[in-house]
Amino acid sequence: MRLMQHKREAYWFYRYLSVFYDKLVNPLFWTARMREKALDIGYWDDDEELSVIDVGSGTGFTTEGIVKRVPSTNVTCVDQSPHQMNHAKAKHELAGCTFQLGDAENLPFDDDSFDRYVSAGSIEYWPDPQRGLNEAYRVVKPGGWALMIGPLEPVNPISRFAANTWMLFPPEEDYFRYMERAGFDRIDYTYVSPHWQKNDRYGIAIVGRKPLPGKSPNHYEAVAEERQLVAVDNEGVTLGRGLMLAGRVILGSAAGFIFIPMALIASVTAPMRGIDKEPEPLNSHQKVALATVGVVAAVLIVNRLTRRR
Ligand SMILES: C[S@@+](CC[C@H](N)C(=O)[O-])C[C@H]1O[C@@H](n2cnc3c(N)ncnc32)[C@H](O)[C@@H]1O
Repeated sequence: MRLMQHKREAYWFYRYLSVFYDKLVNPLFWTARMREKALDIGYWDDDEELSVIDVGSGTGFTTEGIVKRVPSTNVTCVDQSPHQMNHAKAKHELAGCTFQLGDAENLPFDDDSFDRYVSAGSIEYWPDPQRGLNEAYRVVKPGGWALMIGPLEPVNPISRFAANTWMLFPPEEDYFRYMERAGFDRIDYTYVSPHWQKNDRYGIAIVGRKPLPGKSPNHYEAVAEERQLVAVDNEGVTLGRGLMLAGRVILGSAAGFIFIPMALIASVTAPMRGIDKEPEPLNSHQKVALATVGVVAAVLIVNRLTRRR
């Protein structure tokens, strides 16, 4: 499995990333425009009545889109990271939501509990994504819809290698297979991408209906190791597992942070690369990060030139 496709590794990754998340990460890789396009396929009729579960809700960025469609008091946010969740709890527009620490692969809710299930950008970390989709099926009421949003495996071989080393970027057909195996019917989808990406197939939003009550026809129990969750801080780890965890989190975090300057540069150079999508302006944090990248690059270039003389 990939560096970050583990619950404990994801927990520690977000322990620190949560500080930068809304400032630097989402505005580059999962923008408000992408969120609205993805949520639009989620069947928001009877909006006053719908109960919604947002799984891997993080800092509540996707939840902010959900509460534009249904009252916040109808929305339950689930995440395994208390650090991410604290940021969501602090957002005034999410004040009415219910917050529950929990695992996407072992949701702490009864069968047939919610009218809608949404999960955005979380599947990348799930060790057993099929089990996550089976859980989506289980907690949705019959006739309800589940909307899964996630990244697609990059086409470019170098990006694909980097992405697949880092975490799960499923090929498109895997999303369809997860949904079909879980038992959903009437499957529909759309693609989402940030303005700086030439390729429109950067991410996918895929929605399916639960036809029958109860558990997924594909239901199976999680293997013991993957049942772990939430009290991650308190669980003992062996030295070997601890070293492996630290190595993966450090490497995975480094890999993740490299994507930020790359995306910032891609964002400002998009018109020069022939991309004519309407840009989404950089926020002040991104501008500072970009200026820092520029200064570091300038120092490295000057250093190299002066050493040659
Ligand atoms: C990229 S963030 C996405 C957050 C949010 N959905 C958004 O749109 O910004 C991924 C989130 O998934 C959470 N996560 C990862 N694995 C999880 C699991 N097994 N169960 C619940 N949440 C999980 C992480 O803690 C993190 O907050």
